Amino acid sequence: MSSDPKPRVHGIFHKGTSTMTFIVTDPTSLATVILDSVLDYDAPSGRTSNEHNEKVAEYCRVHSLDVRYILETHVHADHLTGAMYLKGLYPDAKTGIGSRVTEVQQTFSSIFNLSDLRADGSQFDLLFDDGDEFSLGSVTCRVIHTPGHTPACVCYVIGDAVFTGDTIFMPDFGTARCDFPGGSSFDLYDSVMTGLYGKLDDSTRVFVGHDYQPGGRELQFETTIGEEKRSNKQLNATTSKDEFAAWRSERDGALGMPNLILPALQVNLRGGRMPTPESNGVSYLKIPVNLIGREK
Ligand SMILES: [Fe+2]
Repeated sequence: MSSDPKPRVHGIFHKGTSTMTFIVTDPTSLATVILDSVLDYDAPSGRTSNEHNEKVAEYCRVHSLDVRYILETHVHADHLTGAMYLKGLYPDAKTGIGSRVTEVQQTFSSIFNLSDLRADGSQFDLLFDDGDEFSLGSVTCRVIHTPGHTPACVCYVIGDAVFTGDTIFMPDFGTARCDFPGGSSFDLYDSVMTGLYGKLDDSTRVFVGHDYQPGGRELQFETTIGEEKRSNKQLNATTSKDEFAAWRSERDGALGMPNLILPALQVNLRGGRMPTPESNGVSYLKIPVNLIGREK
């Protein structure tokens, strides 16, 4: 792992979904990756807007950044990705996600009965396997496959920093839920213990994909692998797999579906595109009735 130069990291918080979008830059060349962007979506009206994307674009403009990549840590279920809007602004930038996105596409293509969705990952410019490397100017980036929250989740190691998406969050919040189709608390345990705690130096900077501000505390999105190993409240270096799986399954059993799961998945599986417009030129998102979530 290259740690020289240290990438510059700027986080922008999307309050409505507690999501962190990160703008990560090689300070030498200004080559930049945008991680986990957000398209604003008003569920009652079905209207999209770009307030959050514009904040990202404004930061990139003010700092004259050269956006090369627009990447996702996974197919998000709680927000719509802003990748297509950003791709419009930065046409040479490459979009990317973990290669096992095809499994997620297969699963949800059948749940939503999507005839127009090709489950081959072709909606993304780059599909990353575990261990793949790419360059951000003079900074080396490496992909760690971290299944658990979803089967396709990846973390990006960029210089001395890791972007954990929905694996581990800040130590006082813990970890991501594992009850979506294809999710597994056992897999998440292995991904964190082996993939993150086992492979990364304690000094590695950790940037988390969400911050839910437990107890109403102020926003925090940066910690270290050493701190996570010491004090992550759900999964630290001393937690056993059975203990974690039992705890996670009890917690997940009490969680409702994320507010935007239905629109988010249908858009994010398409790399941020809306469904093919119908004969009147309008795109429609589907609602499967009595199919996902728990019966009451
Ligand atoms: Fe997620």
